[in-house]
Amino acid sequence: MADLNELSEKLSSIKAEIKAELEKKETSKSVFEYRKTIFDSKTGKIGSLMREMGKIPNEMKAEYGKRVNEMKAWAQDMFEEMDEKFRKEEMKHRYESEKLDVTMPAREIKIGYLHPNTLIRNRIVDIFGSMGFEIYEGTEIETDYYNFTALNTPDDHPARDMQDTFYLSDKFLLRTQTSAGQIHVMEAKKPPIKIISPGKVFRSDDDATHSPMFSQMEGLVVDKGITLCDLKGMLDEFVRRIFGEGTSTRLRPSYFPFTEPSVEVDVSCFQCHGKGCKLCKGTGWIEVLGAGVVNKKVLEGCGIDPDVYSGFAFGIGIERIAMLKYGINNIKLLFESDLRVLEQIRE
Ligand code: DAH
Repeated sequence: MADLNELSEKLSSIKAEIKAELEKKETSKSVFEYRKTIFDSKTGKIGSLMREMGKIPNEMKAEYGKRVNEMKAWAQDMFEEMDEKFRKEEMKHRYESEKLDVTMPAREIKIGYLHPNTLIRNRIVDIFGSMGFEIYEGTEIETDYYNFTALNTPDDHPARDMQDTFYLSDKFLLRTQTSAGQIHVMEAKKPPIKIISPGKVFRSDDDATHSPMFSQMEGLVVDKGITLCDLKGMLDEFVRRIFGEGTSTRLRPSYFPFTEPSVEVDVSCFQCHGKGCKLCKGTGWIEVLGAGVVNKKVLEGCGIDPDVYSGFAFGIGIERIAMLKYGINNIKLLFESDLRVLEQIRE
């Protein structure tokens, strides 16, 4: 910059350019964009004037700086004025075009609800929780040992065929039953034991009442003097609270390798109260779970003396209870997340 006259000329020409450009603008957005280009510290006209300060001889620096700053303040005012003008117009336009109809009905807010499976699981946990059961949550990947061998189901035991297993390797599998949790608990803790263990289980099984993944709730009580009577009393209380007053249980002999004796537990039909209906297939009874007295071999394997302690165990299918309670005839409906189905089921 040779002299200050040259600067004056330059400033005047920038001012003229800004004025001319601003006159062409029609929106606050375009003013904003233009402002950015002018003030950009690297490429903008005003930005570059500031950068040139370094090349100005010392004796001219003060005057140069003063004029450039005046120019900057002028430009800022110009931009602000234009911005305000357009904003006012734009707001006015918006208020005019956007009409608010306060008589319109409100938009419906959809509230989420708990899934039927979750409702039932929570209910069962509450019931057993109130009887003093603690919760043990096992893992979905188990070893063959915990899922079968320690439950008195060694290799080539025919009972292994009762459950079609997804093996991950020779040693690891997706647990087929929450019963695996019994062993972990008995290995870690000595009696008295009183736990429930809810969780997902997996079997290669697929039809209207079976799904490859479903949920179970295991129960285990071990202490001195525990008998099948204790099991029956506790189950009566359980079905009364889940299916309603007046329901009771009946035990039928069955077989599970880890219980001896083993029982299949039926609940008296909560729909027809024993007269016989479609739900209970005319029998007055509905099968709900498997249970039994813990096999002495299982206790022994976990280091619990079967001559001192005894226990009972039970396994409940959560989906089965949900299907019975809510009248669902296909287990898939519980996994498809179809809101038309789920919205019908509330606590
Ligand atoms: N684990 C069994 C199953 O999945 C259910 C069962 C039966 C669990 C009897 C138990 C029991 O604890 O005692 O078919």
